[in-house]
Amino acid sequence: MSPSDDIPMEKKLITLPYEVLSPDELSPADLALVEEARQATFRSYAPYSHFSVGAAILLDNGVTVPGSNQENAAYPSGTCAERSACFFAHARYPEARFLKIAIAARTTDGEFIDEPVAPCGSCRQALLEYETLAARPVEVLLVGRERIFRIPSVASLLPFSFSEFK
Ligand code: THU
Repeated sequence: MSPSDDIPMEKKLITLPYEVLSPDELSPADLALVEEARQATFRSYAPYSHFSVGAAILLDNGVTVPGSNQENAAYPSGTCAERSACFFAHARYPEARFLKIAIAARTTDGEFIDEPVAPCGSCRQALLEYETLAARPVEVLLVGRERIFRIPSVASLLPFSFSEFK
């Protein structure tokens, strides 16, 4: 008998519930946040990838903080839109808590992308920090040209996330 025979195998499943919406199904406040994220793409600095990403974070003090990807000749020194937005938001308004984030993208000289773009792993981890601080779910709106994905929380985008050692 091997040691593993003692432990019954369990199969588990993680699911990610999310909504697919058209812009006319969004509240005026959500539409405004989506528009802020779209506008932020025009302030992206993406001379290397030519892919402009914009993010907009709604804080509980009513302020919306935008961010965009900021690239660098030394590629890894650049940062994504989501991290530029969340680091600036917390640096500028340390007392405020995050409510929602919208993320949009387009090619630098072209159209908004058809399908929503999702935050990279590092951005998910960075955003999770502020969701944890808020002690409530931070909704994520992924903005495509005609469809918006509404994801209920950052944690749901990052199963088995790293957290502080206890
Ligand atoms: N980028 C973002 O801004 N957010 C993401 O979640 C993924 C990628 C940026 C990084 C880089 O400037 C460009 O998109 C191409 O990867």
